[in-house]
Formats: sequence, structure tokens, C-alpha cells
Amino acid sequence: MTELRFDDRVAVVTGAGRGLGRAYARLLAERGARVVVNDTGGSLKGDGTDAGPAESVAGEIRAAGGEAVASTDSVSSPEGARAIVEMACDRWGAVDALIHNAGIVRAASLLEMTLEDFDAVLDVHLRGAFHLVRAAFPRMCDAGYGRIVLTSSIGGLYGNHRQANYGAAKAGLVGLANVVALEGEAAGVRCNVIVPGAVTRMAEGLDTSAYPPMSPELVAPVAAWLAHEACSISGEMLVSIAGRVARAFVAETRGVYREEWSMEAVADEMDAIRDGSDPFVAEGDAHVEHIRFSFAMAQRGRAR
Ligand code: NAI
Repeated sequence: MTELRFDDRVAVVTGAGRGLGRAYARLLAERGARVVVNDTGGSLKGDGTDAGPAESVAGEIRAAGGEAVASTDSVSSPEGARAIVEMACDRWGAVDALIHNAGIVRAASLLEMTLEDFDAVLDVHLRGAFHLVRAAFPRMCDAGYGRIVLTSSIGGLYGNHRQANYGAAKAGLVGLANVVALEGEAAGVRCNVIVPGAVTRMAEGLDTSAYPPMSPELVAPVAAWLAHEACSISGEMLVSIAGRVARAFVAETRGVYREEWSMEAVADEMDAIRDGSDPFVAEGDAHVEHIRFSFAMAQRGRAR
């Protein structure tokens, strides 16, 4: 296969001063992209700012012969997100790819979590995604081309202890990506979700000594493919962890049809309702497919 390149493409990578975002920005730049390396450089909890991480990654890229500019605006306000996207447009005239990867963690049990901690995490991950999409999406639609990659987590898909804020934000990103994919389709804008796993500072406090290799560089080709013109999917989720790349998707059991239900009937049918042996996966226009599948079952049931 010919090498997939980003020549003449402009990419914005948020949270690119460290960890996964740094690996994404470096790979995109190595393949010819002009990259806005955005990072506020704060702590894992999102406190403070430091221009160092963004500047150092932009510097590494330029030293290797690539094109990059550092941005230290925060994704968590509409103004910050707009400034990040405008930096790409002012300097290079476009925003072809947006990878929203910036993230913070504020772990606490449900009983202890403050509204401030809940909001701070949603502000960066979920509201940040909305602000960035609102800034980049119209430009992509006008250009008739765009690739948007949002970042979820197994914490969003499956939940995790002490992560009500993170889990809610990461699940919300999946919902947002679905709508961006639908509304972007006619304009050539594709939006997908990466569900990464890598040892970064987010693994702080975990014993990772028995983990298989889990560098951000193992994840970067997946995020980069999603950000590339060759990306042929939209509204999907790709998992990339420890060298395993997979698709995550929503599935439903076939379900049970009855003309009438009672609470007791729900109880009686629960095993059948939950039987996932032959799942239904709504592909393509999934919203419509879900309704069509359900209506067809009702029509068959009523005809009996
Ligand atoms: P990291 O902490 O190494 O990098 C995140 C970067 O985002 C930091 O450099 C931070 O300064 C930056 N950032 C935070 N708030 C920002 C803001 N308001 N504006 C701009 N930049 C901001 O973490 P890592 O592991 O590289 O995480 C990257 C993304 O991947 C995050 O969204 C995270 O939730 C997600 N993720 C990571 C996993 C992992 O195994 N490392 C697992 C699942 C998801």
C-alpha cells in the first residue's frame, strides 16, 4: 500500500503536549501535516497552565523538519476552542482534521464528588468537544471535507469506580460523535471515536509493571487513520489498546414482542429479553434501522 500522507493538510490536536496527543501530533507531522499542537500544560486534574509541553512538542516536530505551531488556549471555553481552530485557519488557511484528545481526571466516589469536579471534567472532555466542533465543523462543511476524531474511554463505555464525571463525559462524546457524523455526511465530514489505552501520566498510581507494551505510539496510527482522507467510516468507535485494534459498537438483543405487557410478564421474559446470543446491530442509518427492526417485529407478532 502506498504511504498515507497528510501533505497540504492542516490538523489540530488538542492535549498534544503529552501522552497520546503528542504521539498523534508527531505522527501526523511526520506524514506531512501542518499541526496545531494545543495544550494548556496543566496538572492531571487540570490545575495551572504551562506553555512548556505544547512548545516542546511543536519544537520537536519543527526540529525533525515538520510544520507545527504551539497553542496554549483551553478547549474548555468557546473562546479558547475558537482560538485554537482559528490559529490553524489564520496560519494555514484550513482545518482539515481535528483530534480532540485533551483530558483531565478528577476521581472521587459518587458520595464525595463535588459539582466543581463534575463540571471541570465535562468542561474539558465533552463541552470542549462541542466548542471545538462548533468552531471547526462549519469550516469543514464549507470546504466539503473534514475529519473529526473524538476521544472516549472504556470508562465511558463500561463505567469505572470513582469516575462519574469522566464516565459521563466519555459516554457523552459517543453521542456527540454520532450526530456530527450524521450531520457531516452530506458535506464530506466524517467523525469517529477513538477508545485508547496507553501508559501515560493518566496511569499514575497504577502498577503497570505487568502490562504488555502500551505506548501511545501503538495507538497513534489508529487515530491518524481516522484523521486521514482514507478514513472510510463515520459514526464508529475504534478501540486501540496494547496492540489490539477493534471496533466497539452498540448491540441489542433480538428482544421479545408481546401485544401487551405487565410487570410480571417483564419478569417472566427477562432471560429472553437479555439473551444476547443472536444480537441485532443497527448499521448504516442506525436510528432508522432500530425503528424498522422494532416495527417489523411488532408487525410479525400482530400477524400471528
Ligand atoms: P495526558 O494527561 O498525558 O494528556 C492529556 C493532555 O491534555 C495533557 O497534556 C493536558 O495538559 C491536556 N489538557 C488538559 N486540559 C486541557 C485543556 N482544557 N485544553 C487543552 N489541553 C488540555 O493523558 P493521555 O493519557 O494522553 O490522555 C489523552 C486522552 O485519551 C484523554 O482524553 C484521555 O481521557 C483519553 N484516554 C486515555 C487513556 C489512557 O489509557 N491513557 C484511556 C482512555 C482514554
